[in-house]
Amino acid sequence: MPTPLIIDCDPGQDDAIALLLAMANPDVFDLLGITTVAGNVPLSRTSYNARVIRELAGRPEVPVLAGCPRPMLMPPRSAEHIHGEGGIDGADLPEPRLPLTPGHAVVWLIETLRLADQPVTVATLGPMTNIAMAYVMAPDIVRKIDRVVLMGGSIGKGNITASAEFNIYVDPHAAAAVFASGVALTMIGLDVTHQARATPERIERIRSVGTNAARAAAGMLGFFSARYAEAGHVAGGAPLHDPCVIAYLLRPDLFVGRPMRVDVEVSSPLTLGRTVCDAERRDGRPPNATVLEKIDSDGYFRLIEEGVRRIS
Ligand code: RIB
Ligand code: CA
Repeated sequence: MPTPLIIDCDPGQDDAIALLLAMANPDVFDLLGITTVAGNVPLSRTSYNARVIRELAGRPEVPVLAGCPRPMLMPPRSAEHIHGEGGIDGADLPEPRLPLTPGHAVVWLIETLRLADQPVTVATLGPMTNIAMAYVMAPDIVRKIDRVVLMGGSIGKGNITASAEFNIYVDPHAAAAVFASGVALTMIGLDVTHQARATPERIERIRSVGTNAARAAAGMLGFFSARYAEAGHVAGGAPLHDPCVIAYLLRPDLFVGRPMRVDVEVSSPLTLGRTVCDAERRDGRPPNATVLEKIDSDGYFRLIEEGVRRIS
């Protein structure tokens, strides 16, 4: 039976490819809905972009709902310098025809989880504001979440500050609430995603698949990598962050991880948003997450090639 799945995201080129990979596998995922949050670009754009990718994937039946337009406490922070003003620059796709589903994504999350006839997997690819707000409004939903698999955090260094990763940094209070909620968590941080670089060779292999989805994915990866290089980030291709979450759900054998205690810094101006990962119980607290540390990046990119091939 397909796994019931909700994807919360802030498209973003990497979110967009994660959405494509999920929607390319309807035999594996019963995608209940896509919820959007402010992150890489403002909510109006992340919501528009999710609609664009839904139509590229040919999945009009999947509802898209807009969620929180800003973090719980922090001032809004976006990343147009990396993702472009539109958020999925490089995709070169037509305007979406289908509208958002009316209503707020947080209310929809609570109603959908409460009505689910089996626990739901929740994939978060952006700041965790929507999931945290749903939990604060309705703590009972934890019983209906099988696990949250999140792209965010880092055992080691950060990317938006020296010590914090963007998704956690934008809304550290939301992340702290989710990490303290007791829900089963798998954290896929920068330690893993920085092993999975969209090199020119990998982008060309994706483009050569020849479908519309392949061309859009290659265009987005080309833009994303160029901006990463211009921003003085790591050379050798942008780390392809968000599709790691979907790849893990499809092929956990491509990854290695272990239980850790993860806590989020919410007060220090120097390390705000840092995920403190304790694998050796040095602080005496039991693990609250599985933290991934390794990825088979060749197998990962083959999975993405297969995904864009399956979408005509
Ligand atoms: O730090 C990388 C994460 O922040 C990715 O999810 C990217 O899309 C941005 O949301
Ligand atoms: Ca994202």
